[in-house]
Amino acid sequence: MSRPQHFGWFLARGFGPQGWGYPSLDWDYDWTRPEVYQGAARTLEQAGFDLVIIEDAPSLGSPSTIDLRVRHAFGGPKHDPLLLAPYLFQATNHLGVVPTVNPAAYLPYTAARQFATLQHLSGNRLGLNVVTDTGSARHFSDAPQLGHDEAYDRAEEWLAGIRALWHSWDDGALLADRETGIYADGTKLRPVGHRGEHFAFDGPLNALPFTEGDPSIISPGGSGRGLGFAGANSDVQLALAPLDEKSVRDYRAKVHEAAIERGRRPDDVKILFAVQPVITSSSEEADRIVAASAHPDDAVLAQIARKQSSDLETDLTSLDLDSALDLSIFGAHVSRGSIQRLIGDRGEGAPLRAHLTALARTGRISDRSGFVGTAEEFADLVEELGDWGNDGILLWGDFHPVTLHRTLDELVPVLRRRGILRREYADGGLQANLRAF
Ligand SMILES: Cc1cc2nc3c(=O)[nH]c(=O)nc-3n(C[C@H](O)[C@H](O)[C@H](O)COP(=O)(O)O)c2cc1C
Repeated sequence: MSRPQHFGWFLARGFGPQGWGYPSLDWDYDWTRPEVYQGAARTLEQAGFDLVIIEDAPSLGSPSTIDLRVRHAFGGPKHDPLLLAPYLFQATNHLGVVPTVNPAAYLPYTAARQFATLQHLSGNRLGLNVVTDTGSARHFSDAPQLGHDEAYDRAEEWLAGIRALWHSWDDGALLADRETGIYADGTKLRPVGHRGEHFAFDGPLNALPFTEGDPSIISPGGSGRGLGFAGANSDVQLALAPLDEKSVRDYRAKVHEAAIERGRRPDDVKILFAVQPVITSSSEEADRIVAASAHPDDAVLAQIARKQSSDLETDLTSLDLDSALDLSIFGAHVSRGSIQRLIGDRGEGAPLRAHLTALARTGRISDRSGFVGTAEEFADLVEELGDWGNDGILLWGDFHPVTLHRTLDELVPVLRRRGILRREYADGGLQANLRAF
């Protein structure tokens, strides 16, 4: 029997216009209404997924490039995923729902109270994808923008404060004793006086303590500081790394070392590797898709250019495809790593067409050159990761029914047959499911 794996779905375009710009996804769903998300959440629960994570960014980005972000809806609009969560909880019974939250946007007391409320309302199924992006700082105060590591320091202080509030009710504080008429013993509530570098507040929290564990903490940062944060704080780490044995084992070892350093057990952090497979009905179909991807037409390149223009906050759509890409068009606000990912090893003299074509190119799962393949081939890959000690897989995509069905319809039965994907949920919500194996 194969080692069971935890499965998550990353709703990569957040609570925004699902499928905009992709003609095959033009199904007239209203992205501002809950129904399309509720349908998807039910599908994921039926499939045996542990959790769905909803991407978010609270900002439209730099004032000078807002048009690039909204023109094709890659960078916005986005509605608040925390407020979508109750609709998804209502549509499901077991699925964990994980909105993305940025500590810049929530005062700890407000956050502790809202998250506690959702944990109770959902039957212990709330998770929080804690991100540390600082680009949106200007929307919350006029304080100077924090550096990369400082943002992680703030996130750790924020989370420690929230956890202190969640645990400000000692065991035995809640009585709900009908005989005496006493609901709670106030002498067992701790005051929590937090005076830190970034936050200052008092407790105790006026929300009830948890019976099945705290909301789960999820984290996606891949830097050394990010992995340290995961080891110290997270129940789940989202890993974006190559899927060869050395990379997988090295990544896991770094998170586990960080966990041990902070007095936790390696198994306290489940690591889910992110992957966006294209599941085909036959290996011939997979071969055809891979062969065609090496020769994208101009419409495909234009679509990639629109997404890159939004992500890199730099207009690539008006440039000549066959002229060398001048790197001076990227302002100082664009991370060097993102530019490097676009140009790869082709160098500055290469035309834009070459860079965009490289992004269009896909490979076969079977020879590990990419992620196009049959359900059996993808299951082989998942099983191999499991043999290296892996905990789970994070599938990546939008929430459109077309995307979900194309990805899952053939895959779920194969994973189930091999014993990789759960058939039943544990009692006790998201923490219980994460700890079940
Ligand atoms: C799988 C995955 C999902 C992410 N989701 C978000 C997100 O929803 N919102 C966000 O602002 N950043 C998101 N990030 C970015 C991280 O929060 C982080 O800002 C980024 O990885 C840089 O941190 P690092 O330097 O520690 O890697 C995501 C990253 C990964 C790998």
